[in-house]
Amino acid sequence: MVDSPESQLRCKVLFVCLGNICRSPAAEGAFTDLIQKRGFSHLFEVDSCGTSRYHIGELADSRTRQTARKKGIELVHKARQFKKSDFENFDYILAMDRSNQKDLIALASGDEERKKVHLFRKFQKGPGKDSDVPDPYYGTMKDFEEVHQIVSDASEGFLEFVLNKNGVKNA
Ligand code: 4NP
Repeated sequence: MVDSPESQLRCKVLFVCLGNICRSPAAEGAFTDLIQKRGFSHLFEVDSCGTSRYHIGELADSRTRQTARKKGIELVHKARQFKKSDFENFDYILAMDRSNQKDLIALASGDEERKKVHLFRKFQKGPGKDSDVPDPYYGTMKDFEEVHQIVSDASEGFLEFVLNKNGVKNA
């Protein structure tokens, strides 16, 4: 059997923020929903974590879950902290903001690990590209809704990037 580009792709993606209860679970949920709807779930493994220990074992913030639920996305992830072995286990380590990115790069050993760390919104198209995903923790429901919109937009750009890079047709 000749492998198509698609059958060779199994892309492991880790979304990272500080607490793993607001932005990165929202991104994990939005990206998982997107690949399910587009029929690309079999090509990816998706997870999220935080750089801190603050909320280990907790479900996502109730405001994050409520915002996702309104879009038909159920968040069941429990917070965990980033660990060194994540550098080996994931292909893309997507930081929600520059502070997370800096913390991750400080943990990396060598160029190969460092190169896996990207600012998530680098993949977004149009306005907001290369910005931080704003931390909504001390904000209002409106801030959580804005985060949902941002991580959904950036997910579209990231999916397109990975599919193009691997020669998968994006219908
Ligand atoms: P996240 O938001 O990094 O998007 O999960 C935060 C959650 C908790 C805290 C800060 C940011 N905290 O300081 O506890």
